[in-house]
Order: sequence, then C-alpha cells, then structure tokens
Amino acid sequence: MESGRWGAVVTGGASGLGAATARRLAGMGAHVLVVDRDADGAPAVAAELGGTALVTDVTDEAAADGARELLNSLAPVRVLVCCAGLQRGARVVGRNGSVDLGWFRQSVEVNLIGTFNWVRVVAERMAANEPDPERGERGVIVTTSSITAWDGVDGGVAYAAAKAGVAGMTLPLARDLAPHGIRVVSIAPGTFDTPMVATMPESYADALRSQVPFPARFGRPEEFADLVATVVDLPYLNGEVIRIDGGLRMPPSRRDGPK
Ligand SMILES: NC(=O)c1ccc[n+]([C@@H]2O[C@H](COP(=O)([O-])OP(=O)(O)OC[C@H]3O[C@@H](n4cnc5c(N)ncnc54)[C@H](O)[C@@H]3O)[C@@H](O)[C@H]2O)c1
Repeated sequence: MESGRWGAVVTGGASGLGAATARRLAGMGAHVLVVDRDADGAPAVAAELGGTALVTDVTDEAAADGARELLNSLAPVRVLVCCAGLQRGARVVGRNGSVDLGWFRQSVEVNLIGTFNWVRVVAERMAANEPDPERGERGVIVTTSSITAWDGVDGGVAYAAAKAGVAGMTLPLARDLAPHGIRVVSIAPGTFDTPMVATMPESYADALRSQVPFPARFGRPEEFADLVATVVDLPYLNGEVIRIDGGLRMPPSRRDGPK
C-alpha cells in the first residue's frame, strides 16, 4: 500500500473478525469506515480507531447507494472487507415440520446479497481512484465466506448456501473488476473465537476444537486480520478463495450441534 492517507471500509466492523480487521487496517495507516447495524458497537470501534461509523443494515440497497457521498468525502478507499454476516442454525425438517422459507431467505439476504450490495458501491468508488504508481492497483476487496461452503454441517443449509455464493462470486468479481485495477479475494474461515461462535453449546465447541488437526483450538480474530493484511499486501493474489482453518474439515452430523 502506498504511503499517505487512504481509506478502508469494513462491514461487520463492530465485532469479531470485522473489528479485528478494522484495527489491523487502522494500524496499517487506513482511515476506517466501520459499517454495521450495531448502533453501539460501530461508533465505539470507529472512535477507538479515529475512523468513521455508519450504522446501517448491509442488505439496505438505498442506504448503500446513499453512502456514496460519505465514501467520496473520505480518504481514497483502497480496501473493502465484507465481514457482516449471521448464522442461525435450523434443521430442514424439525419437530414442527419444515423450516420457514424466511429463515433461508434471511441468510442469503444478509450473508450473500448484503456482501454484494457493498461490493458494488465501494467498487465504483475504488474505480475512480488514481492507480497506485507502483502496482497500477486501485483497490482490493476481501469477502468472507466460510469453510461450510464446502463442508457444511447439519442445521446449516442456509448459511452454507449463502457462503458458497460468496465463494462463487470471487472469480467472476475479480474478472469483472480487473479492468479497473481492483483485486478480489475471499477468505473462508474455519471456526474463530468471536461472539458468533460463543452461542455454541460448550460440548459442541469442545468437540469442534478437538477436530482441528493443528493447532487444536479456534482461530483468533487477529489471525483472520493478519490474512487480510497479507491479501492487501500481495499484488499477485487475486480471484481466489483462501481457507484459514488449522486443517479442519467439519465433521458431519452432531446431535448436539446447531438446532
Ligand atoms: N467466527 C467464525 O467462526 C466464522 C467462521 C466462518 C465465517 N465467519 C464469517 O465471518 C464474518 C464475521 O463473523 P464474526 O464471527 O466476526 O461474527 P460477529 O457476530 O462477531 O460479527 C458480525 C458482525 O456483523 C454485523 N451484522 C450482522 N448482520 C448485519 C447486517 N444485516 N447489516 C449490518 N451488519 C450486520 C453484526 O452486528 C456484527 O457486528 C461473518 O460473515 C461470518 O459468517 C465466521
């Protein structure tokens, strides 16, 4: 990244992987725009980093369109990291019959459509940047998939479908945005210690930790942020989905898994 003030946008930046990434990017010199629906968390992280908060739902098309003015007022946005997401487990057929379609729709809406909603608006802003004089690069976009895109667990159909969609967007997005000098990489985390996984039953969490070949623990949000920093720093990395999971392949069918 060239010297001088530059901007980064982190969706889901109020918590977990997004907050760790926002901190890392601020440490690299970015003015960070924290985009999150958490009306307490987003301003708190932004204030800590001397950044800017935008409290919004990432699925809101008008809000993303309306953020153009804000994006133009910041230092040139060179990095977008999409971390906003949610996971709600349910089995397709449970005690009371089939699950509501709304459950599936919400997962795709937030995890997949919410990601694309911000990619499209921030990519437009990046395309207007002056190219980096050394690399010819105008921006880097990092999306967050999940290893469940390939080894989804029972109860996780909606989440797996949405995250497979995020992974699948990577190459076409990279090809689409290449003429603008914008790279696109997706990160597929295994299980990381964040508020999202804190809701897991402890017995399930312990079983999952023991399944990680090495190191046999959950990932740390800072390790995710380190990978984001590597992606930002490595100009030849593009159009790829990178797993970061300690070698974990999710085991099938746990009776005490997500309901
Ligand atoms: N933690 C893990 O083990 C893990 C594994 C694989 C993938 N992921 C993915 O990483 C990303 C970050 O997850 P995390 O573990 O840090 O979770 P988290 O719950 O700590 O953080 C998610 C953030 O996204 C925000 N958010 C959720 N829905 C939103 C919406 N509609 N609009 C705006 N903001 C919204 C939340 O307010 C929260 O601040 C998610 O996309 C998640 O699916 C996490």
